[in-house]
Amino acid sequence: MKVLVTGGAGYIGSHMIAELMENGHEPIAFDNLSTGNRKAVLCDGFYPGDIRNPVDLDRVFAENKIDAVIHFAASSLVGESMENPLKYYNNNVHGTASLLEAMGRHGVRNIVFSSTAAVYGEADEVPISEKTPVKPKSPYGETKLAIEKMIAWASGAMGINYISLRYFNACGAHKSGDIGEWRENETHLIPIILQNLLGLRKNFRVFGNDYDTPDGTCIRDYIHVMDLARAHTAAMMYLFEGGKSDIFNLGIGKGFSVLQIIEAAEKATGRKVNFTYEGRRAGDPAVLVASNEKARKILSWESVEDDPVEIIKDAWNFYTRHPGGY
Ligand code: UFG
Repeated sequence: MKVLVTGGAGYIGSHMIAELMENGHEPIAFDNLSTGNRKAVLCDGFYPGDIRNPVDLDRVFAENKIDAVIHFAASSLVGESMENPLKYYNNNVHGTASLLEAMGRHGVRNIVFSSTAAVYGEADEVPISEKTPVKPKSPYGETKLAIEKMIAWASGAMGINYISLRYFNACGAHKSGDIGEWRENETHLIPIILQNLLGLRKNFRVFGNDYDTPDGTCIRDYIHVMDLARAHTAAMMYLFEGGKSDIFNLGIGKGFSVLQIIEAAEKATGRKVNFTYEGRRAGDPAVLVASNEKARKILSWESVEDDPVEIIKDAWNFYTRHPGGY
């Protein structure tokens, strides 16, 4: 399958490309490199370009007979979206409209979309299923939800088949250690802990220890990035086999607190994590854990790695091999 991976130089996109190559598919990366890294792209096909630019899109679609699009290109930081919501509407919503239009112009009918658990906001139930009411608490979550709906409408009108995947907390790295999670301005828990352990970052702060959870810190569902990538391949193949357009949660179905992740990082690295407690970070829900039953049943997908110690070992392997980034 020839697969266009938008955002292919980003954290999850680059792992998607590795997974597609390992399974005999032919990925083509498309990325404007605003946050992605050219060195993270392991495939030969790379098109620098912006999804908001029809000329860039027409070029890649005209030069390649694309079977499916896996769409990651987006702005994806909750905090930044609160400060600069229009950037998120422009890049994410307008960008995806432009991508769908290009798919229409070039007769490409299949898309797997990278959505997020942020569409649920502060969910009323745990675990969170696809039937749990959506009520995003940030422009980031709002724009991802708007895109899900836009794709569904476009699907009806244009005959596009789609799967939207709502990820919980992506983490870990490819076993090779060649690619991993690296951003200029990191905000995510596990890379921050590892950067702190490598002396690249001075303070590591735990945001809030007064949540209504057993140890007072927030609980999340940490899913290995290669398990996420495998789910996209499963979703794409499901569409090719005639499966119907749908939405799925992707998580391991188990929650770990920030303190449990710190403990796992200490086991994985053999080092002691030093931290201080801070107040809560605005917009953080106390508990986010997925029900992944639907993906298991319909996509026949299972997470392979459920142990945060092993996940962090993979991330640590990447970090120790690339301490200064790519
Ligand atoms: N945390 C800290 N200290 C830090 C960074 C994070 O204590 O320096 C805590 C957070 O407060 C949170 C947990 O670690 O409780 C995880 O935080 P991350 O920033 O790693 O991830 P989030 O759960 O905030 O965000 C993730 C995805 C988003 C997605 C969101 C859904 O990264 O893309 O889940 O709510 F939108």
